[in-house]
Amino acid sequence: MKVAVVGLGYVGTVTAACLADNGHDVWGVDVDAAKVGEISAGRSPVAEPGLGAIVARVVAAGQLRATTSCLAAVDQAEISLVCVGTPAAARGGTDLSHVRHAVDDIARALRHGTVADRGRHSLVIRSTVPPGTVEEVVAPALAAGLAGAAPVTGVAMCPEFLREGSGVADFLAPPFIVVGTSDACAADAVSSLFSFLGQPVRVVDVRTAEALKYACNAFHATKVSFANELSRLFRLLGADSRQVMSLFCEDTVLNIAPAYLRPGFAFGGSCLPKDLRSLLHLGRRSGVDMPLLAGTLATNELVINEVIERVAASPARTVALLGLSFKMATDDLRESPNVEVAEQLIGKGFEVRIYDQVIKPGRLVGANRRYVHAKLPHLERLLSGSPAQALDGADVALVSASDSAVRAALLAAPPPRVIDLSGQLGGEVEALGGYEGLGW
Ligand SMILES: NC(=O)c1ccc[n+]([C@@H]2O[C@H](COP(=O)([O-])OP(=O)(O)OC[C@H]3O[C@@H](n4cnc5c(N)ncnc54)[C@H](O)[C@@H]3O)[C@@H](O)[C@H]2O)c1
Repeated sequence: MKVAVVGLGYVGTVTAACLADNGHDVWGVDVDAAKVGEISAGRSPVAEPGLGAIVARVVAAGQLRATTSCLAAVDQAEISLVCVGTPAAARGGTDLSHVRHAVDDIARALRHGTVADRGRHSLVIRSTVPPGTVEEVVAPALAAGLAGAAPVTGVAMCPEFLREGSGVADFLAPPFIVVGTSDACAADAVSSLFSFLGQPVRVVDVRTAEALKYACNAFHATKVSFANELSRLFRLLGADSRQVMSLFCEDTVLNIAPAYLRPGFAFGGSCLPKDLRSLLHLGRRSGVDMPLLAGTLATNELVINEVIERVAASPARTVALLGLSFKMATDDLRESPNVEVAEQLIGKGFEVRIYDQVIKPGRLVGANRRYVHAKLPHLERLLSGSPAQALDGADVALVSASDSAVRAALLAAPPPRVIDLSGQLGGEVEALGGYEGLGW
């Protein structure tokens, strides 16, 4: 394929060189004549292990050319990859001016280039851009720039996952190839482009692809700060943080695993909130600020508050709470976020009916019994014998249980609103008119 790579920094140079090295006819374009000059001379403008040799090879073979002329690069190209910078703007925002300029340049080139004779062109964003950018900034800028005068052009987001310092190796073995687009031709073009990698291409909604890159980077940053925040405390407590984290990483069931990474309701139960508070207490006693873990507790409260606010903001008066313990199949009610929701809604004057297949108030004992009696002293009166009974006449259902009885009752007599707290109710329930996901 003839490929235009717009922006020849770390991402663009690695992309251009590796695509050229794998058989594509690549034209790199940059507004910086010095970078263009370096590549034209067969040298990489950025330092990355192995990149210099690849650039020298593909430039000598005529597989990679560099230019400051977007028209020359885009002319005849089937696809352009936008790899320009998206630096921080004021107050942490994203400066999209380079992306806008690049799209304007590509539109102008498409309008004037001979590509118009051949039909399709796919404009693919590889820069990291906030969700909504392709639909709200890129597509309108392209449409305005083309002014209806040029070829049919599909837009897509294909985030890049390479890391500086191992850019070439990462580019050639990405964790996944994800294309966000609603344009089948753009998806096909990206699939053909990367077919040499031998990996499946995942086609998703464009905002999913944009958001995915932020999720990855935020998680990586959070992992670093998590390990560092704990190590600052553990050192003072005489624990070997390197050994702790090395063992920690051996748990690939709960720690280095998909566990706990599914959007859903707040955490609770008798261990996580208590032990987080204990760590924060140890931190305070040792003079160690632990904003990440403090923020974790704060986020948990926000999730609970949002549910209460969503219910309180509607005219609903009767609420069916399907699921009371902090997770299904246990009757441990200690620090269950559902208990918190019930307590607060009752305090605000709502009629709350509760169904939980495991909870038998007469059989609760010890700390569990004391906890729930302090929070919900009339639990027996609030409990319904079946999900259908709890739902009867309810304005809104707050659903954290996802067993078949709960799903069947929701489908048989759907209340006006169903707020799904677990994300595990399945497609049929999600198709109900009053369905809302908590964070999806
Ligand atoms: N650096 C990384 O490790 C990495 C990894 C993945 C994703 N990203 C994302 O990729 C994007 C690019 O990152 P980078 O580190 O390669 O940036 P960079 O600053 O190294 O390179 C950007 C290049 O774009 C050029 N440019 C700006 N406007 C242009 C225009 N209108 N036409 C042509 N060229 C133009 C600049 O001159 C510069 O050479 C960013 O959104 C970044 O967040 C970076």
